[in-house]
Amino acid sequence: FGLQMEVDAHLQAYLSLKSMDRARFSDNTFSRSNTDGSITTDDGLYERQEPVMQNSVIMERILRRKSLQLRNKQQDWQDSPNGQKMLEFRRSLPAYKERDSSLKVISENQVVVISGETGCGKTTQLPQFILESEIEAARGAACSIICTQPRRISAMSVSERVAAERGEQLGESVGYKVRLEGMKSRDTRLLFCTTGMLLRRLLVDRNLRGVTHVIIDEIHERGMNEDFLLIVLKDLLPRRPELKLILMSATLNAELFSSYFGGAPTIHIPGFTYPVREHFLENILETTGYGLNSYNQIDDYGQEKVWKMQKQAQAFRKRNSQIASAVEDALEYADFKGYSPRTRESLSCWNPDSIGFNLIEHVLCHIVKNERPGAVLVFMTGWDDINALKEQLRAHPLLGDPSRVVLLACHGSMASSEQRLIFDKPEEGVRKIVLATNMAETSITINDVVFVVDCGKAKETSYDALNNTPCLLPSWISKAAARQRRGRAGRVQPGECYHLYPRCVHDAFADYQMPELLRTPLQSLCLQIKSLQLGSISDFLSRALQPPEPLSVQNAVEYLKIIGALNENENLTVLGRNLSILPVEPKLGKMLILGAIFNCLDPVMTVVAGLSVRDPFLMPFDKKDLAESAKAQFSARDYSDHLALVRAYEGWKDAERQQSGYEYCWRNFLSAQTLRAIDSLKKQFFCLLKDAALVDNVENCNRWSNDEHLVRAVICSGLFPGICSVMNKEKSIALKTMEDGQVLLHSNSVNAVEPKIPYPWLVFNEKVKVNAVFLRDSTGISDSVLLLFGGNLSQGGLDGHLKMLGGYLEFFMKPTLAETYLNIKRELDELIQKK
Ligand code: CDP
Ligand code: MG
Repeated sequence: FGLQMEVDAHLQAYLSLKSMDRARFSDNTFSRSNTDGSITTDDGLYERQEPVMQNSVIMERILRRKSLQLRNKQQDWQDSPNGQKMLEFRRSLPAYKERDSSLKVISENQVVVISGETGCGKTTQLPQFILESEIEAARGAACSIICTQPRRISAMSVSERVAAERGEQLGESVGYKVRLEGMKSRDTRLLFCTTGMLLRRLLVDRNLRGVTHVIIDEIHERGMNEDFLLIVLKDLLPRRPELKLILMSATLNAELFSSYFGGAPTIHIPGFTYPVREHFLENILETTGYGLNSYNQIDDYGQEKVWKMQKQAQAFRKRNSQIASAVEDALEYADFKGYSPRTRESLSCWNPDSIGFNLIEHVLCHIVKNERPGAVLVFMTGWDDINALKEQLRAHPLLGDPSRVVLLACHGSMASSEQRLIFDKPEEGVRKIVLATNMAETSITINDVVFVVDCGKAKETSYDALNNTPCLLPSWISKAAARQRRGRAGRVQPGECYHLYPRCVHDAFADYQMPELLRTPLQSLCLQIKSLQLGSISDFLSRALQPPEPLSVQNAVEYLKIIGALNENENLTVLGRNLSILPVEPKLGKMLILGAIFNCLDPVMTVVAGLSVRDPFLMPFDKKDLAESAKAQFSARDYSDHLALVRAYEGWKDAERQQSGYEYCWRNFLSAQTLRAIDSLKKQFFCLLKDAALVDNVENCNRWSNDEHLVRAVICSGLFPGICSVMNKEKSIALKTMEDGQVLLHSNSVNAVEPKIPYPWLVFNEKVKVNAVFLRDSTGISDSVLLLFGGNLSQGGLDGHLKMLGGYLEFFMKPTLAETYLNIKRELDELIQKK
């Protein structure tokens, strides 16, 4: 009880103090006075100079001089031989033909919507057109164009390309800024940034002072940040009549955006693509003679096995009646076409829940062996299966001579050296195969693609951990996305597109993908609405292009109250304000903050980085047992996947110091790449916490890092209310959560093999629903840890805390614990009365 009070008081005092520190800190660092009397402020997004009133005439003169310099420089480059060559290329892009007309429409309207085929030059050209025309009109130094990208990697690669097209180094007139990284200077006039960065800029500058143009790219993707930004900008436009807003999209649903902005004019850039022939699963099976049930060795499989697979596939299909009837249709179609029994059989075995690596491999072999030259682009769902397929293709070199094939991956967390290889044309006779996520649908254009293999699914992965999106399961893409994928094959010559699903399944796809705002938890977003002081959360979200369900808004607000980020009146608490600064999910942010307060930061950062990157423990399908026992070694009977991760990571760090990191990973079924990503993320976390003045030095904040109980408690503080009760039975363990009732442990969890779990509770980060609900990762915690760290430590007082926990305890029928609570509460009431 005493400790609880102390924790409460400390957390409040500590956080308030640190917030004050930060305010002082930011005043000193983010602005400075210049000798000419102007003030330069740097809000993290970019620097700008603000004339001081009495010196505005001088300032005007400086701006004019700078503008003229810019104009001369641009002219010189365009007259140079290299500049000429570049101009020639740019003029060949479809966007160039629309240059003058677009600039005219932009100058006459506040909002303009621009659509055009991918690769026509929207991203690289349009912002540049605006910049060039401003420079030509000698207003160059006064303009400031911000172009947002949904992904870090596109912001970086596009800015690099545009700088090269202007014959400059990155960071001169063209720059980029993504979270924790950037290349920009005082002279940067065109800035590519992630949508999240612009939102952060709005945090410190609600009116976007000094910005002349905002361009939101890839608006058709309907990411949560983009939809959010649209509401904010729609409110801002009347306050900033001279600010221009340009929305760019690859597909043709421009009307939706245009009508949202009161009928804004739309410009369509006609593109050109060669025709692309489409093959659906039934044709692929028929023409290539592949049996889905064969796994390359059909003859080894008896009829019984086929029946079993058919039954399995049917069971999968049962859960989705739409798909089931589509498969029936496909079978009918196959009959109608007179396809072979083998094709028919394979179709009936088709399992819409699996990505079908063998099928992809088979199609790739078919292309490599029988088709004309040209690069192959394979659309997969995410980092994991791209890597797994890459491994499979390496292990079984069915693709023939390995030196004749370059296998590349294209996803949000690839290295930039790899990124360049994707654009490179391989030498004669070498086949380039790129395994990509939906990122290659619109934001990245690989010019020499002739063949597209489309698995039909996409996953909203956290491309980078600092992106707030939680992981989702792969789901079917939309018709628009399938069309987009197909179009990627026809850039240089007529192409072929292999859709690895029946045509009838395609016909059942939605027209457009559902906006992210309607399908993801809104917790981070709600926090952001509050920190931007945008008023009532539900009022604000009701003004969205397609507003989310009131229930999901309510859920998010409720959750934020439970973890103590919002108070009863839906206002930000001190904790909430701190969480909104950290670029991770609120629960992980809370873990970081408590890790800092309780001085056990390093292991907590490892856990948070692991949860936000991905699991470094590899579970290869064929060596699952070995991999599981390798993981179990790290658990050392402390009943925690999170602590196992910490141990594995620390072991790797030690091994790295002795230059044996790679071997260590190999032996323990760990992904070195993921561990490195965790490592770099931890460094970023530390800088952020330091910037936020939540930690001072490495030694202090790790004083208690070896205290496993404390780390466990901090993990609980973040993961609550993700708790389940543990009942050890004779031969099994019964687990129960409040929402789902009975739950099971995922087989990858270290707790799954334990005969008993000596903790009354488990906290977990993620659960997945397959045929039952499975907890992916879990950590055992004791009653007292739950009492002190579960839930709302800093707000609502003990009263609120007890009320909420009491509900849990009653539900889980822990009467003695509940009684203890009531006693504490009674004593507290008396104490308060006396005081
Ligand atoms: O945005 P949109 O899809 O309309 O096209 P873009 O990204 O502006 O690209 C226009 C053209 O620039 C592409 O067709 C590529 O040929 C070229 N490009 C390039 O060579 N290197 C890059 N990093 C980006 C674009
Ligand atoms: Mg683009």
